[in-house]
Amino acid sequence: MDRAERTALITAGLLMAVFFAALVYAAAGLNISIPTCVTDMVPFKQGQVIDKGNNHYEVHMVAKMWAFDPPEVRLPPGADVDLYLSALDVTHGMYIEHTNVNLMAVPGAVNAARVRFDREGTYGVICHEYCGVGHQNMMGKIVIVKGAVPPGPPAPAPGGGAPVAAQLGEQLFESKGCPGCHTVDGTAGVGPTMKGLYDRETEMEDGARIKQDESHIAEEIREPGKHVVKGFPPIMPQLPLTDEEVNALVQYLKTLS
Ligand code: CUA
Repeated sequence: MDRAERTALITAGLLMAVFFAALVYAAAGLNISIPTCVTDMVPFKQGQVIDKGNNHYEVHMVAKMWAFDPPEVRLPPGADVDLYLSALDVTHGMYIEHTNVNLMAVPGAVNAARVRFDREGTYGVICHEYCGVGHQNMMGKIVIVKGAVPPGPPAPAPGGGAPVAAQLGEQLFESKGCPGCHTVDGTAGVGPTMKGLYDRETEMEDGARIKQDESHIAEEIREPGKHVVKGFPPIMPQLPLTDEEVNALVQYLKTLS
């Protein structure tokens, strides 16, 4: 064996020994274990924040085309969070800014991470797995602010007329992930913009021209595949919405003139 070869082999062997010793030291000496991120939890379809007391929260996050549910989580500083992540449709990713949380959202499985938010501020949440045409719009946020009250059970729907319904509709528009595809400022997204939708005459894929009145907008929300707007892919998902929620969305869309 050549002398240089022997030197290279011995150096490589020594390096391996050093790395292995470092691993053993981390595991046994420093008690650092490799976190397990795969759970045996049953996948869930809806996101929620559960207050476990003592500033400890369980966050169930659902990744779907093209939003996170819940889209925004507000917690007080020092919150310890057990994060569980599932996907509704295809494989997504989830990265939380300024943390080491970086998970895959896999349909049919739940991945988990534990994270503590000490610093006040807004932590952006982004999808880092290419998941379709709306991928770049898929984001959420975690807001850490003093006195934040984590969301409890949803407030009872307020009674009242169109303005109240429109307000509820705006919240639904955000929470159901509609902005992932539909802008409200007139620019085209994955789907048509919602600005000026009401009363607009729209050309459909089959050539028909349809006036977007209340009943037609409601129908498109309920049965997205029935009429497809010309020039856009037929990918709008059907959402489980009550009649009241559909009406609230319609009332909100009417305000976007
Ligand atoms: Cu979800 Cu990219």
